[in-house]
Amino acid sequence: MTWEFMLENLPRVANEFWTAAGSATVFAFHGEMGAGKTTTIAALCAAKAVDAPASSPTFSIINEYGYEENEQAKKIFHIDLYRLKDDEEIEATGVADCVSSGSICLVEWPGKAPWLFDRSALHVVITPLSERQRRIRLLSHNEFTTNSFEEDL
Ligand SMILES: Nc1ncnc2c1ncn2[C@@H]1O[C@H](COP(=O)(O)OP(=O)(O)O)[C@@H](O)[C@H]1O
Ligand SMILES: [Mg+2]
Repeated sequence: MTWEFMLENLPRVANEFWTAAGSATVFAFHGEMGAGKTTTIAALCAAKAVDAPASSPTFSIINEYGYEENEQAKKIFHIDLYRLKDDEEIEATGVADCVSSGSICLVEWPGKAPWLFDRSALHVVITPLSERQRRIRLLSHNEFTTNSFEEDL
């Protein structure tokens, strides 16, 4: 699935994204600095009507959001691996536990720990087309690993 959209249409794209994502829970967000990973993740959280985060996304590696779906309390983890140095540090933060928890995990800088992503993960490739326009590709693990999207990463 591919979207090309302006910033003002991101809320609509976020709703379509969740429909396209089906029952997947782990999402790896690829794209250069400033591509729109954090902005897109914020819109995806808003589309699920999450509660305010307990902590500021700027300072923590893992941000947990609560939301309700089918009258059940659920969680979304927004994880940013950017500042983590090595596998040991990644282990210590509990990121792997989040990824295997069954809750939705939206992960920035997945290249820091590719071993976190198995075949059930979906990959989100964000490409700037102009100042306010972006392309988002939602790919299966197989599509991501067998096609060459290098020009976008
Ligand atoms: N269509 C768009 N979708 C997402 N972000 C956009 C779009 N157009 C412009 N932007 C801007 O691009 C910037 C992306 O920053 P950010 O989300 O922090 O990037 P990243 O997390 O990939 O480093 C934000 O300032 C955002 O407002
Ligand atoms: Mg970011």
